[in-house]
Amino acid sequence: MEKITSLAKRRGFVFQSSEIYGGQNGAWDYGPLGIELKNRIAAAWWKEMTQLHDDIVGLDAAILMHPRTWEASGHVENFTDPLVDCKKCNARFRADQIPEENLSAKKCPECGGELTDTRKFNLMFKTHIGPAEDTASIIYLRPETAQGIYVNYKNIIQSNRMKIPFGIAQIGKAFRNEIVTKNFIFRTCEFEQMEMQYFVKGGTDEEWFNEWRKRRWAYYEKLGVKMDHLRWHQHGPDELAHYAKDAYDIEYLFPMGWRELEGVHNRTDYDLRRHTEYSGKDMQYIDQDNNSERYIPYIIETSAGLTRNVLMVLCDAYDEELVASEKKDGAESSADDWRTVLRFHPSLAPVTVAVLPLMKKDGLAELAQDIRRELKEDFATDYDQAGAIGRRYRRQDEAGTPFCVTVDYQSKEDGTVTLRFRDSMEQIRIPKAELAARLRQEIKTYKRIK
Ligand code: GAP
Repeated sequence: MEKITSLAKRRGFVFQSSEIYGGQNGAWDYGPLGIELKNRIAAAWWKEMTQLHDDIVGLDAAILMHPRTWEASGHVENFTDPLVDCKKCNARFRADQIPEENLSAKKCPECGGELTDTRKFNLMFKTHIGPAEDTASIIYLRPETAQGIYVNYKNIIQSNRMKIPFGIAQIGKAFRNEIVTKNFIFRTCEFEQMEMQYFVKGGTDEEWFNEWRKRRWAYYEKLGVKMDHLRWHQHGPDELAHYAKDAYDIEYLFPMGWRELEGVHNRTDYDLRRHTEYSGKDMQYIDQDNNSERYIPYIIETSAGLTRNVLMVLCDAYDEELVASEKKDGAESSADDWRTVLRFHPSLAPVTVAVLPLMKKDGLAELAQDIRRELKEDFATDYDQAGAIGRRYRRQDEAGTPFCVTVDYQSKEDGTVTLRFRDSMEQIRIPKAELAARLRQEIKTYKRIK
């Protein structure tokens, strides 16, 4: 994880928030490569969940919601972690994350000092809206995006004539006052979720729950994730969230071990029932095709962390490889024999293709710039003319760029260029006029070789 954190900073994927002031715990900034990666992961999820499903539509609800929302959802009462402090060293722990013997003996796992009693700590960030800081002005930063979907479910049925079963997808920020934030961007106070709520008739919920488990698993397979690094974990009765009847996590084998990546939850009719109760509005679905039968739908939720997916994709892509140094048409390479490479799927890579002139002189730079300009319309491109070519390839490997195009003297004569593949380091010569089509084909048929 240290290597990934340091690469992420060095190459502009992720920076510590407010670093010049010593950093802000639980918050991170996404740099030029990081925002591209995050956007592409979000776009892949969005395409999968909306474009490829006729029965799912999108939504972008506000982060600030009426505070009654969180009473109805049960978050005010139940969204807590058990907290203990050490009276001696002031370390703070989640009581469910320290050894049982320490908890029962009230002994700090770090210094052996005395621990306080366990107390409940609500994870919602509270603030005030308007100038008066009193209880009437309390408002919360949403701890999940899901509730924005529930409160809009009737609007969407009416505006878009949706019929059950149907889903609503949303990507957005969520905030939790996490007690322990470690492991880089894994668990943070400010993060992004990609959630889809699927509305079904009670009685069909278990079937749909299994169906969505299958679909979400297949999604990661399609994304090219190492499948032996994924597994299911079913929540036991003591792990289930207050709204869930059944829940499975998709766990990923991160450098610190198996951890949750995404949850698939059967939330029953809990949320819509509670919103009916707290808002006084009728949240029943009226089935026009079935004698206007009325019922409160059940909800199957797929809830993935976007920022946690960024970490997963970084970990999954990271590789170090011993290679022979590369030369290009006699130009010297000063690259080391070890290369660090991010083997991103080309559809997720922040830069798809880098254009590199072998030399700056003799019109090669201008020709390379022309080629870049043409590719720019369809691909995320980079241009680099600084340093030995082998070193430039290594820089692109480290950024996860799947393709490099090198322009040399022959390019001037016959219009061909070298196309270099990140994973195999293979180089082929092709006419520059064929580049765009070839890249499109390579992206479509990409198979990870390592
Ligand atoms: N709406 C249901 C829900 O929020 P959750 O299991 O609490 O369920 C869903 O969260 C996903 O959101 C998790 O699988 C994880 O990927 C992400 N997530 C939750 N808390 C997070 C945090 N503090 N930092 C980063 N990602 C988080």
